[in-house]
Amino acid sequence: MKRIFSGAQPTGNLHLGNYLGALRNWTQLQHEYESFFCIVDLHALTQPQNPQSLITKTKELAKLYLAAGIDPTVSTIFIQSDVAEHTELTWLLNCQTRIGELERMTQFKEKGRNTERESTGVGLLDYPVLMAADILLYQTDLVPVGEDQKQHLELTRDLAQRFNRDYGETFRIPEPFIPKAGARIMSLSDPTKKMAKSDVDPSGSIGLLDDADIVTRKFKRAVTDSGTEIKFDNTRPAITNLLTIYALLTNQTNEQVENNFAGKGYGQLKSELSEACIAFLQPFQERFHNITDEHLRDILTGGARRARESASQTLDTVKERLGIVGARGI
Ligand code: AMP
Ligand code: TRP
Repeated sequence: MKRIFSGAQPTGNLHLGNYLGALRNWTQLQHEYESFFCIVDLHALTQPQNPQSLITKTKELAKLYLAAGIDPTVSTIFIQSDVAEHTELTWLLNCQTRIGELERMTQFKEKGRNTERESTGVGLLDYPVLMAADILLYQTDLVPVGEDQKQHLELTRDLAQRFNRDYGETFRIPEPFIPKAGARIMSLSDPTKKMAKSDVDPSGSIGLLDDADIVTRKFKRAVTDSGTEIKFDNTRPAITNLLTIYALLTNQTNEQVENNFAGKGYGQLKSELSEACIAFLQPFQERFHNITDEHLRDILTGGARRARESASQTLDTVKERLGIVGARGI
């Protein structure tokens, strides 16, 4: 059975973009692939975090995975820092990675943009190497992510290919899996930007834990384009974004959605969209609140054990190839 690996950062404020671009696909793919879904807490450290709230957000993200429909009897769900192999492989890969490759990453350039070199953490630069280690440890075939992670996947492939060339066949070369629709859900307040956790203006994103009133208010305030026709149209990003969300939430084709709204106005679209979103969020949030800490701890402990079994095999091979065998080699 082929393998998939994916993860999200426990940085709070998970939104509809994370669900439609990533989580939702994971729940579908888990039945076709052997699946590993990770809560990448070490990645979150690339930005300042309050320790207590990092613990809370880590727990929250694990519950969101389960509420979204990731089935722990089918998939392995675990916390990155529970499997030390991730940090160990990161060092070994760091020594095969060039600074220039990392400085070219768009996400690094964007996140570091407002900060001086003197105050930008090394972790932010090294972030994609930790991500490559996550993926390569599991001999992953496919990595389901949103559009924004494509460049990191390309770097992962480059590092794996280089290692295999220099030290012998070690890593499987992973492919990105980017959904045709939903890979880039845009902000409701500025449809030229993606919906983002870090959005300073919270009205642009629908939080997965937002209540019905907030959801209705946010859709009501969502910006629209000029013109009145409700159609998918690349030159009208706001309306296209709203229609994309609607189509995904109601499992309809673009054509069905356009037919549904033919002759209707923006007000109607927004109110049907709010309804569809609330119909999805209510049972989702109910599942979220029903998961006990004890149950969660069992799942994550078992997940870490299974993950470690796979990860340690790959790491042993890598170390052998590099001549890092410790006292055993003497
Ligand atoms: P992150 O929030 O960076 O931990 O991302 C978790 C997952 O959600 C990744 O696979 C991202 O590619 C995906 N994602 C984040 N923002 C969006 C968005 N606006 N639209 C679609 N997918 C997204
Ligand atoms: N960098 C990803 C993001 O911000 C999260 C991530 C870390 C990831 N390691 C991964 C995604 C491995 C897929 C595979 O969204």
